[in-house]
Amino acid sequence: MTLRPILIHPDPRLKRAAEAVGEVDDATRALIDDMLETMYDAPGIGLAAPQIGVSRRVFVMDVAGKEEPAAPMALVDPEILEASEELATYEEGCLSIPDVYEEIERPARVRLRWRDREGTLCERDFDGLAAVCVQHEIDHLDGRLFIDRLGAVKRSLITQKMKKLKRERAKAAAAAG
Ligand code: NI
Repeated sequence: MTLRPILIHPDPRLKRAAEAVGEVDDATRALIDDMLETMYDAPGIGLAAPQIGVSRRVFVMDVAGKEEPAAPMALVDPEILEASEELATYEEGCLSIPDVYEEIERPARVRLRWRDREGTLCERDFDGLAAVCVQHEIDHLDGRLFIDRLGAVKRSLITQKMKKLKRERAKAAAAAG
């Protein structure tokens, strides 16, 4: 397993719609394992392949509470079959937009179909934090970030902040040689 660098917004690779995986092979499983390790290391509760520069429709997540055992999931080629009319608001963050949290409204429940790490076709309803997470990650697969759901002014301020962060990180990396 390998830790993969997480892309920071703005980056054209985060704006691209990812391609379907199809058959889940050993390369897909190796990608999933790298993504889980990278997500836990960050730490985060979800990570989509485009965030490590891989344009494939796969994401990993673990929304288990701190006191609960780890519950890693990998969702390959996920599809939203149904979304509730009822909406819920949650303060979202993203590993590609560090230290930014904004309230986003989405359907409270969604039904998903996907393939797991073994290639088994799965179907299930998600609610609560898991529903937020799967919709946020599927947005990544469609080249969309949660800040794209905010107004233009707010989004632009956040983008400026991220550009500054990237400049500072590049400078620090250069100074470290
Ligand atoms: Ni994200």
